[in-house]
Amino acid sequence: MRYTQEPSRNSLTPQIHRLAETLGRQGAINQAIAEADPLGADETFLRLPGLNEHKDTEGIREALQQVVTRAQSLPELNFIHCSSAIRDISMLGGSLVRFGIEPSDSVPDFSEALMVFSAYVAAQIPRDSFIDYTSRNPVNSRERTFTSLPQEKIFIDGLRRGMAALDSCLENVMIACAYPFSSKEFAANFRSATDSFQIMIDSIVRVKRGITPEVFTHQIRPFFEPFRVGDRAYSAPSGAEMPILNIDQIIWGADCEDELYTTYFRANMIRLPAIYQEISQTFTGQKSLITLLKDRLASGMPFSYEEHMSIQMLHHLLTRMYSFRMPHYRVAEDNVILRQQEYGEDQEVKGSSGFGLVETKYVLDQTIKCRQITSQALSFCK
Ligand code: HEM
Repeated sequence: MRYTQEPSRNSLTPQIHRLAETLGRQGAINQAIAEADPLGADETFLRLPGLNEHKDTEGIREALQQVVTRAQSLPELNFIHCSSAIRDISMLGGSLVRFGIEPSDSVPDFSEALMVFSAYVAAQIPRDSFIDYTSRNPVNSRERTFTSLPQEKIFIDGLRRGMAALDSCLENVMIACAYPFSSKEFAANFRSATDSFQIMIDSIVRVKRGITPEVFTHQIRPFFEPFRVGDRAYSAPSGAEMPILNIDQIIWGADCEDELYTTYFRANMIRLPAIYQEISQTFTGQKSLITLLKDRLASGMPFSYEEHMSIQMLHHLLTRMYSFRMPHYRVAEDNVILRQQEYGEDQEVKGSSGFGLVETKYVLDQTIKCRQITSQALSFCK
């Protein structure tokens, strides 16, 4: 199984290297956005947890009005400032919505500010996404939080680390795909990808230990509800917008036509920064790694030592993905069960993305199925 010897993949190699380099620069961009405070909102965010805890909706509305007014007189628009402004305006909007108040109804230029900034950064949705709350959220005393709970800081920290780990994992998976499956470079890059993914497991373990379903469901999740911008409601950030979407796509999703998956993939992919969308377009229409492996198995030809190593490394990454997804699914499920107990069994419970547990279970099941295929291939190697 030689990926780069397929004509289509061969022509992708320079593009994969270029995209991997651009991806490698994302950390510095996120850092610059985290450091920026174009609306002078640092002080407001020191007060926001208190305002939320006292349900001081008038105080939140005034704070939002103030940042929206400042947004209208920014001396210059640039990508970094616009991105920081989207983060700050949206978190104040999310706070108002938590108390049942539509920000666009109570702060006149709220929608316009978000539309202008989103258009400037060429975002496909006019509000914040998961990366704003995590990798583009400043650290330490400037960290933007909805509450003063230590658990929210644990949550953000786990997600932020997870995002960085996934970037590095994705970069390695992409670089691996620029080499033949039967090369030592493929296996080496998959090994690095697997090492990076460990942080996702550590994060979910820490979050599971540190945050009870009651704290998440009652204190944190309510700040992640849709709000209106213009005449449309846009859902809040969610974990479904992590670059694990790209990793799945390369491993098994690129040629998967299940409607549940394609709907979920498209709806969440457009909320990621442009580089992830470009990566996804590059792999769209290609055969996924699992399909290539199945074709290779079907040929009945014995695997070379290098191929064996590559399958082993792919198998290890899938094992780690499973070791994250299984406990994560339980955490998500515990929260759904709690909400159903409180609101009634027949109540349909959605995550902040607007998708339910079905999609989270689907990606877990796909991971299990892929692992069965790599297992089968490994037994064939012996
Ligand atoms: C209290 C802890 C957590 C809860 C209750 C929770 C809940 C959920 C829910 C309900 C979803 C479905 C999509 C949606 O939000 O609408 C989801 C998706 C997701 N979450 Fe979490 N989550 C938690 C912590 C984490 C952590 C710590 C990470 C990563 C470090 C994470 C990563 C993901 C990912 C990657 C998805 C997409 C599904 C997948 O690819 O497996 N979550 N989460």
